[in-house]
Amino acid sequence: MMNLAAYANVYGAPPVELVGETAGLTQFSPFFPGASALDEAAPHSLDGIIILGPPGTIERRYTIALALRALKPGAPLMVLAPKDKGGSRLAQDLTVLGCTFDESARRHHRICVTQGPGDAKAAAAAIADGAPRLDPTMGLWTQPGVFSWNRIDPGSALLIANMPPLAGRGADLGCGLGVLSHAALASAKVKSVLMIDLDRRAIECCKRNVADERVTTMWLDARRIPKTLQTNALDFVVMNPPFHEGGHENQALGQSFIQSAAAMLRTGGMLWLTANRHLPYETILKPLFKRVTLVTEAGGFKIFQAQK
Ligand SMILES: C[S@@+](CC[C@H](N)C(=O)[O-])C[C@H]1O[C@@H](n2cnc3c(N)ncnc32)[C@H](O)[C@@H]1O
Repeated sequence: MMNLAAYANVYGAPPVELVGETAGLTQFSPFFPGASALDEAAPHSLDGIIILGPPGTIERRYTIALALRALKPGAPLMVLAPKDKGGSRLAQDLTVLGCTFDESARRHHRICVTQGPGDAKAAAAAIADGAPRLDPTMGLWTQPGVFSWNRIDPGSALLIANMPPLAGRGADLGCGLGVLSHAALASAKVKSVLMIDLDRRAIECCKRNVADERVTTMWLDARRIPKTLQTNALDFVVMNPPFHEGGHENQALGQSFIQSAAAMLRTGGMLWLTANRHLPYETILKPLFKRVTLVTEAGGFKIFQAQK
């Protein structure tokens, strides 16, 4: 087990068996509602940090570069990742960022430790590369690491193509960049949309992508909707639920989203859902909704309309 005394901060949830218990450290991952943000940390302000490196190279280098900028001189940075999800590239990342480091391998992970400071110019370039930006093709604010950050997801596009104009009060669970809400808000009959995502970066992008006074955004885990939102009052919910967690398929995630939608909808309210064809959502939809209709199936996706 590592000596954690030099580490006051953590990014993500590194495996306990590799680094020990990190629950008491200050969390900086955008996937932990309420966590601090590395891009807002003052330069040279933080003690050591342990980073579970994100799988995408741009996002991983951005995160490491932000941490290097935020660390006090000499404070340690430990970055680890499964070998097949970015771990085998950590040494290259730190070399590009101008850091000397020690590298070890344990339990299919690579683990690198550096004390920076690295090359400030290289860090600035990595930060610019991973920062939020307006994508001219999609016409949306986006950021590497956010779901489908550089293309509209085909499952979401299929749902938009099959959704009638909506009306009343609704929610978008796992809203990502906000493409489903954007489509819903095209109808003047929509009075409000509550947009929820676990990823702070997605929520920040949404604030720019759907700047509409009918919208409320919440950085929240859609599996644990607070009682105050389980009102059985909404007219519609739209969603393209996630089915991966920590790099692995987790069908329970989408099932929890469906349960949350059911708790938010009024009797007669409608859930519009897009899903990869292999996901067995029918079994969870049927006991919770009065009428479940498979609207279409195409390109490996299926669209459901479920009336509560
Ligand atoms: C398949 S994407 C769909 C994004 C967007 N609705 C679209 O159509 O492009 C699923 C979204 O759910 C978010 N997410 C994952 N787990 C979540 C959770 N537990 N609570 C809320 N959002 C979550 C992800 O960050 C991602 O933005």
